[in-house]
Amino acid sequence: MADKPILLSGVKPTGRVHIGNYFGAMRQFVELQEKYRCFVFIADYHALTTPHSHHHPEEVRESSREIARAYLAIGLDPKQIVLFKQSEVPAHTELAWIFNCITTMPYLMRAHAFKDAEAKNKEISVGTFDYPMLMAADILLYDPAVVPVGKDQKQHVEYARDTGQKFNSLYGDIFAIPEPLILDATATVPGTDGQKMSKSYGNTIPVFATREELAETVMSIVTDSSGTRPENVYQIHKLVRSEAELVPLYEQNTGNYKALKEALIEDLDQFLSPMRTKYEELKNDPSMVEQVLIEGKREARAVSEAKMQQVRKAVGVA
Ligand code: ADP
Ligand code: TRP
Repeated sequence: MADKPILLSGVKPTGRVHIGNYFGAMRQFVELQEKYRCFVFIADYHALTTPHSHHHPEEVRESSREIARAYLAIGLDPKQIVLFKQSEVPAHTELAWIFNCITTMPYLMRAHAFKDAEAKNKEISVGTFDYPMLMAADILLYDPAVVPVGKDQKQHVEYARDTGQKFNSLYGDIFAIPEPLILDATATVPGTDGQKMSKSYGNTIPVFATREELAETVMSIVTDSSGTRPENVYQIHKLVRSEAELVPLYEQNTGNYKALKEALIEDLDQFLSPMRTKYEELKNDPSMVEQVLIEGKREARAVSEAKMQQVRKAVGVA
């Protein structure tokens, strides 16, 4: 096990886990868990960059629990993976500070997330501005070979790579430089309005929704009658059923959006229900999830502290 290459990724606890998270990033963790030693975590300090969280600490807590259950419900093996909360491993914020000191403002000002926030005239916290440095620390502490993410996170992984290279060129070879893993077909899963599915756009289909919630959400998908088929329905449908089956189904039901949405509800429900069942079981067994997080914390602290000892020595504080 020790000589397997490492995989690392995280999800922010800012709302319910949705099928964009699942098809874009999380399902890769499951597919790769035999081949890689997996470190997966709950990016709760990143969640604090969202102003909504400042008024809703209980939501951060609950969403963190949901993500922990989600990782296990989608099929990650608690005996093989290291699952932990970012805030429980102090090395992440410690290394982020050191990265702050070797990073320039203009470089961070080129980040898409910062530029978008600025273009919308949003008030930007220092934490939001510095988001890529905390993420670089999350990644580089564990020497991962791969970081599976959706396309929206590609630039952040590039920031981590650049920062690792910069540190190495200043202080010697301390960090491995990882590759992002992005699945072409599901790099950007669309939401119910056809834009990128995102918790911040309110257009999500939650992975652990009840069948009734699924039905309601699917019925709310915005249909556009300009083409021959309702593209927003089709794009989501093809996540759970082959195009060879879908093309005839959509041809037979041209113009009958209701029938197509009902077929999508059925197919999504079939696909998601085993994960939902497992999720509900875990919800009823909080001590099991807690135990996994305790073990994950221990392991992640040990690995990251060993790396920090090298880093502290290299920069001259130890
Ligand atoms: P959100 O954008 O909803 O806040 P997160 O930022 O927590 O979601 O994303 C967690 C993971 O899911 C990241 O790897 C991200 O790239 C991926 N992801 C999020 N939304 C999508 C999407 N619509 N399509 C593909 N991947 C996505
Ligand atoms: N920024 C990522 C997101 O919004 C979450 C994240 C934080 C992450 N640290 C990470 C993902 C490290 C991969 C690796 O989705």
